[in-house]
Amino acid sequence: MKNINWGIIGTGRIAHTFASALKKTENAVLYAVASRSWEKAESFAHEYGFSKSYGNYSELAQDGNIDIVYIATPMASHFQDVMTCLENGRNVLCEKSVTLNSEQLEKIITKAKEKNLFFMEAMWTKCRPVFLKAKEWVDNGRIGSIKYTKADFSNNVKYNPDDRLFRADCGGGALLDLTVYPLTLAQAFLGDPDEIISFANIRDNIDLSDSVILKYNNGSFASIDSGFEIDLKNNAVISGTDGYIIFGDGFFCTCDVTLYDRNGNEIEKFSRENIVNGYEYEIIEAQKCISENLKESPLVPHSGTLSVMKIMDECRKQWGLKFPDEK
Ligand SMILES: NC(=O)c1ccc[n+]([C@@H]2O[C@H](COP(=O)([O-])OP(=O)(O)OC[C@H]3O[C@@H](n4cnc5c(N)ncnc54)[C@H](OP(=O)(O)O)[C@@H]3O)[C@@H](O)[C@H]2O)c1
Repeated sequence: MKNINWGIIGTGRIAHTFASALKKTENAVLYAVASRSWEKAESFAHEYGFSKSYGNYSELAQDGNIDIVYIATPMASHFQDVMTCLENGRNVLCEKSVTLNSEQLEKIITKAKEKNLFFMEAMWTKCRPVFLKAKEWVDNGRIGSIKYTKADFSNNVKYNPDDRLFRADCGGGALLDLTVYPLTLAQAFLGDPDEIISFANIRDNIDLSDSVILKYNNGSFASIDSGFEIDLKNNAVISGTDGYIIFGDGFFCTCDVTLYDRNGNEIEKFSRENIVNGYEYEIIEAQKCISENLKESPLVPHSGTLSVMKIMDECRKQWGLKFPDEK
């Protein structure tokens, strides 16, 4: 596989985690980083060994030596940042949730196609070996037809109106930050729902916690609870007519998944330790796609990302919640 020159936009928490994985991933070249502050970009570049640093995002987007840009800014900035990269001919891997709503995502997908560029949501969970193992079990009929999925995601952070997580102008709220993961799991295993029922605790125009039920006309359903200021196990279950699959606690990052028969007997357990910190798998997937000249990842297809965005649009519609610039 050829070497891939990476650019990173934004130097916050997840950018550090991602850069640590990038540094140890084969064929990944730490080429450039951009921050709104040149000093921050310089310091980040120095810490991880990037060759170039930019004091604004658009200059990085214009750098033709970059094979792919990883966007690690808050949700409300994603649309602009992705569009700037695509307009300048850059392939993009963008953090979750990839946009504020499905309208923005549709515009991005159209632009990526028009420019013949690769675009992928950084939904690392879907690239991880345990998730792929569960998919394989399901595809091989090991649990029969899926009747039910249940997944939780809590993050017990205290309310802080200055934190991006709680700021509507940053695209904050549990839905886009946390619920996106269990929704992604449900969508990956059950497809697009026929009915959505949801509730949320709202404060200062963001959802602190929410509960979502997805109902399917074939008799299946998915149940999801998530939020800030609560403690859940964050595990996930996929239950079928012939057995069930349980992901370890923290299903989105677990290294363990177990297959049971319908009587609760353990049939198979799969464990895979991270090579670095778990983010390497999405890096490997994006690099593979670029090397093979794919414009979309088979593991994180546009259709799945769009379907999840549409479910989140519907939840917010049910709650009467809009982000500042939404009509
Ligand atoms: N995959 C995962 O496991 C995971 C985990 C955490 C977060 N995330 C996602 O990653 C994204 C960033 O999250 P984070 O926790 O890294 O956020 P963060 O620590 O607040 O960092 C975000 C960075 O974005 C840049 N930025 C651009 N516009 C900004 C604005 N208006 N306000 C604040 N920062 C701005 C800043 O970098 P500069 O100052 O350098 O420009 C900032 O450091 C979000 O989409 C989040 O959902 C993913």
